[in-house]
Amino acid sequence: IPVEDFDLVIFGGTGDLARRKILPGLFRRYLSGQMPDTSRIIGAARSDLDDAGYRDMVREAIAEFGGEEAKNTQELSAFIAQLHYVTVDAKGDGGWSELHEMIRFEAVNAFYFSVAPSLFGDLAERLHTYKIADKDSRVVVEKPFGRDLDTARELNATLAQHFDEKQIYRIDHYLGKETVQNLMAVRFGNILFEPLWNNHYVDHIEITVAETVGVGGRGAYYDKSGAMRDMVQNHLMQLLCLIAMEAPSVFDADAVRDEKLKVIRALQPVEPHHIVRGQYDRAGDEPSYREDAGNERSFTESFIAMRTEIANWRWAGVPFYLRTGKKLKARASEIVVVFKDLGHSIFPGDQERHRNILSIQLQPNEGMQLRVTIKEPGPGGMRLVDVPLDMTFAEALEGDNDTVDAYERLIMDVIRGNQTLFMRGDEVEAAWEWTDPIIQGWEARGDVPKLYDQGSAGPDDALLLMHREGRRWSQIKA
Ligand code: BG6
Repeated sequence: IPVEDFDLVIFGGTGDLARRKILPGLFRRYLSGQMPDTSRIIGAARSDLDDAGYRDMVREAIAEFGGEEAKNTQELSAFIAQLHYVTVDAKGDGGWSELHEMIRFEAVNAFYFSVAPSLFGDLAERLHTYKIADKDSRVVVEKPFGRDLDTARELNATLAQHFDEKQIYRIDHYLGKETVQNLMAVRFGNILFEPLWNNHYVDHIEITVAETVGVGGRGAYYDKSGAMRDMVQNHLMQLLCLIAMEAPSVFDADAVRDEKLKVIRALQPVEPHHIVRGQYDRAGDEPSYREDAGNERSFTESFIAMRTEIANWRWAGVPFYLRTGKKLKARASEIVVVFKDLGHSIFPGDQERHRNILSIQLQPNEGMQLRVTIKEPGPGGMRLVDVPLDMTFAEALEGDNDTVDAYERLIMDVIRGNQTLFMRGDEVEAAWEWTDPIIQGWEARGDVPKLYDQGSAGPDDALLLMHREGRRWSQIKA
């Protein structure tokens, strides 16, 4: 079903994100018939291009990043014809009147700020001065949404000068991932899990987002952020919220976001000994983190593991272990819910510890396993073994997997005016409120990250974080 007719302006329309994600994503939505033929995508940036030049650039970008779909040359040409370009000066007056001329005010208008946050204020102001945006326009912003509470508040205040919260779409692309939304479907669409989803039955929960890539190429940005700001404050936090939140009364934007906010506000401060930070070491010809970052004295972490708790009735006493890092063993994101031991075993001689474990793989392969205990087949008496009930979603849903990339879904949600999968300003601020003291603690102590081997599971201390509590991380495997 096509969405409503729209004009989407991409500020930073020649930039990396636009070329890699936004434009190929829009093309895929075009191919699936979701983008109306009359809709327009207007690239806006500083470069001196015309429509034809922009179209050439986008054609190349889609050839490079668009995957198989880019081979549909006829459709690609038709899509490209819906693109336009305007040269604008974010800090001056150039191009704004032209942009005003281009916008069709009867269609849905969305403005994607795919630029440095320092320009948000300038863009928002000019969109208003030149009467390009109105009370129905939508504005899309990307992380980094601040680098601490103060800067996030400033950004929110800047946007609030010109836009209502209902118009602001803060992207966390993890919320656009299929399996991440599936977390909500699994939790709130089944009766099976919810009764057990609390501190009476859950021993602990683990969230791992492991990557094999390093920070080469974006070292300058990354070195000012580190894994805590780059991944934990946003992506892992969102996963944690979806796993831990109460059921919203309806699946709508504010109901969902209210519940997520309560989780963030209930997060306990993290004790210094419950955090392990790491930096990947050099491996043969493969540069170390510090070399990639171009900073020989960098104390920024490319890996972090931590233990936190949520202080509310449902979760009090249940540890949540979070872990993410670059240059690890495999690209694998997983959430593991480990249920408690049985209080009593009726099977004589059964010394093993049997635990039900629900693991949900987010990427690269999406799936879910539930480990259950059964009788070991054969004549050996009542010997028990744990086996997985395994479901790979791609297999289970064969023929029905119109896979939609996170960005595609989120951009279409912007056009539809659905904010459910976007972060509200108060959520972002609450997340920084929890993050700030942790980072300030490292800075005050001069905390030095531990080196770890590329292709490993991070520094050994991260393993100890769980071992010393009698627990174990799941294996990082693709
Ligand atoms: C981005 C981070 O937000 O998410 C990157 O800035 C990270 O450092 C990326 O690599 C991971 O996203 P995905 O979708 O590949 O898991």
